[in-house]
Amino acid sequence: MSERHQQFQSLLKSNAEAVEALLERLLSTDLQAGEIARPERLLAAMRHGVLNGGKRLRPFLVIESAALFPGVERETALRIGAALECIHCYSLVHDDLPAMDDDDMRRGQPTVHIAFDEAAAILAGDSLLTLAFDIVAAPETRLPDATKTALVLALARAAGIGGMAGGQALDLAAEKQAPDEDGIVALQAMKTGALLRFACEAGAIVAGASAGDRSTLRRYGETVGLAFQIADDLLDLTADAETMGKATGKDAERGKATLVSRRGQAWAENRLRELVTEAEALLAPFSHRAGILIETAHFIANRRN
Ligand code: IPE
Ligand code: IPE
Ligand code: MG
Ligand code: MG
Ligand code: MG
Repeated sequence: MSERHQQFQSLLKSNAEAVEALLERLLSTDLQAGEIARPERLLAAMRHGVLNGGKRLRPFLVIESAALFPGVERETALRIGAALECIHCYSLVHDDLPAMDDDDMRRGQPTVHIAFDEAAAILAGDSLLTLAFDIVAAPETRLPDATKTALVLALARAAGIGGMAGGQALDLAAEKQAPDEDGIVALQAMKTGALLRFACEAGAIVAGASAGDRSTLRRYGETVGLAFQIADDLLDLTADAETMGKATGKDAERGKATLVSRRGQAWAENRLRELVTEAEALLAPFSHRAGILIETAHFIANRRN
């Protein structure tokens, strides 16, 4: 294992621990100003959907993108990462519902609607989505108001109809009528890419970076976002449920049109290599400071779970 890869693995672990500690605090029984009560069973369902492992890759990208720039408090980037992770976890809780992918296992545990019930899973998702914006806006997030507004706007655009939720709608429609390849790329850029793109762009927003640097990170995020879903579709075909912590073989079973199903494994592996090369080229302006993000692109393309 190269030194840089080892450094990456230990950073991924330490960032994940910090994110989990923060999420644990945010999902405690402590009432926040303005809250009336935190219903016990709903809180338990939210905690089940969030505090259950996960690679915490999106918070990692926020923290490490912000770390490219001087002067960002790590704690601040961590909070934005935790907000994004709440939206990601909500998307998974809803993605697993019977009306969507109908999955029983996630991160090696029963999905929220199995461990609780469908209503609890729907409401846990609703509450996690709202909590994300709470975290960004809260006074504990030490950023200028204009920066918070920019984050709220970018996060809303990434998560909503023009991003993740819209992509999920297109993904379900695609089970009925298969889109062409451009259609698949577009829907994947929305359902998966948009939150990953936000993760990278958020680092630049938090840092108050130049428009040029912000756009570079946005493009890096788009590129690793595409790679991320191709890897997910590849793993759905090749990995086992135990390693993945979720059912595999589902895409073929549901007749989901993916680039992997259309073009095959060898093509997908080659496309992943191309995307990593593109991601590396995009980061060239950051020179040696981009080492971790380059390693991250490799990790996203070659991940085993
Ligand atoms: C899975 O995301 C859902 C997709 C967008 C394909 P991750 O693979 O990041 O899931 P966790 O957070 O590590 O469980
Ligand atoms: C999920 O894509 C994307 C979102 C949750 C937004 P998938 O349906 O392929 O994710 P997995 O395979 O269930 O994790
Ligand atoms: Mg899905
Ligand atoms: Mg799914
Ligand atoms: Mg999948």
